[in-house]
Amino acid sequence: MTSAPIYNFAAGPAMMPPEVLQRAQAEQLDWQQRGYSVWEMPFTGSEFQQIADQTRQDLRELLQVPDQFRILFMQGGASAQFSLVPLNLLGEHPAPCADYIAGGHWSRKAIREARRYCRVNVAADNGDYSGPVRLPNPDEWQLDPGAAYCHLTSNETAEGLQFAELPDTGSVPLVVDMTSDFLSRPLDFSRLDLAYAGAQKNIGPAGLTLVLIRDSLIREPLPATPSAFSYKVVNDSHGRFNTPLTYAIYLAGLVFRHWLQQGGLPAIQYLNRRKSTRLYQAIDDSEFYHCPVEPQSRSRMNVCFQLDAPQLTARFLAQAQAAGLLNLAGHPACGGVRASLYNAMPLAGVEALIDFMHSFAREHADAI
Ligand SMILES: Cc1ncc(COP(=O)(O)O)c(C=O)c1O
Repeated sequence: MTSAPIYNFAAGPAMMPPEVLQRAQAEQLDWQQRGYSVWEMPFTGSEFQQIADQTRQDLRELLQVPDQFRILFMQGGASAQFSLVPLNLLGEHPAPCADYIAGGHWSRKAIREARRYCRVNVAADNGDYSGPVRLPNPDEWQLDPGAAYCHLTSNETAEGLQFAELPDTGSVPLVVDMTSDFLSRPLDFSRLDLAYAGAQKNIGPAGLTLVLIRDSLIREPLPATPSAFSYKVVNDSHGRFNTPLTYAIYLAGLVFRHWLQQGGLPAIQYLNRRKSTRLYQAIDDSEFYHCPVEPQSRSRMNVCFQLDAPQLTARFLAQAQAAGLLNLAGHPACGGVRASLYNAMPLAGVEALIDFMHSFAREHADAI
């Protein structure tokens, strides 16, 4: 008996490349004939150092990370970075200030956290707009020239909004929460000073957090900062100040290697464009579904849409789940449907979703 394939559209933790899971399974009990597993390896030993160094090197190659950027493997998820960015970057200014762009659920959470440490200048807020949902256009931002940094969220996972490119913030360092679009497209490092990402979308297991930081920004943090969360301590100790997330780093390494073997970022970006374009097209062509987001702000990672007959949303989600199209419910703050199309989602998953959407719309055509 053949069963229909399962596609997991979860927003995170999200699906990982099946080849990576298979390789991890094969190596789980015995890593490279050493007679023991990565779980059991001392982090100070040469074997784990080899894994961590290779992981860093593969990420550098994949993303073309310039030499003046350090790659830190941290813990605590992206939410910890909401505090760690101000703690590490504000310096000794007596009345510190930082610019924040409010574009959705996650950037607003970052703002609430930053307010505990400094004056926050909300340089733009799309909560002030009426009409279709969109991100604040950089022409409208009211940046503070004295700000220690400017923070934005490149992809708003809950609402399905994404900046098409990084803005130019001049001499103010640009800090970006890239949790939900890290590794999905090439990065313009000439505009970027710090990027952080929780791993659970395009990298690996939750908890692991990547920080890419320009070395000129690594300085003494505010005195109350725990040492394990000081960028300077983590960098100076080569990630050995305390026990790192060894298994998560190993899995991230398998993911980076996998994508290098698949053609790197150009191949990833090409596939992500095809997947999201196909799905938005199907939504826009339909009289049964609509996407509330303006085209230029639409995310290629999280495609959010609504049924024109919203009373059918629960039935849509239940039938999709039964058909093997899993975890399509929108973020609780937004409702509706959200299809997360991270790097590991194949085009076949998107085609299966579109087929399901068409047949559901045909079946319920009299509802609208
Ligand atoms: C854009 C964005 N930022 C931050 C977070 C929070 O990440 P974590 O749960 O790793 O703290 C998420 C989680 O989904 C996210 O999507």
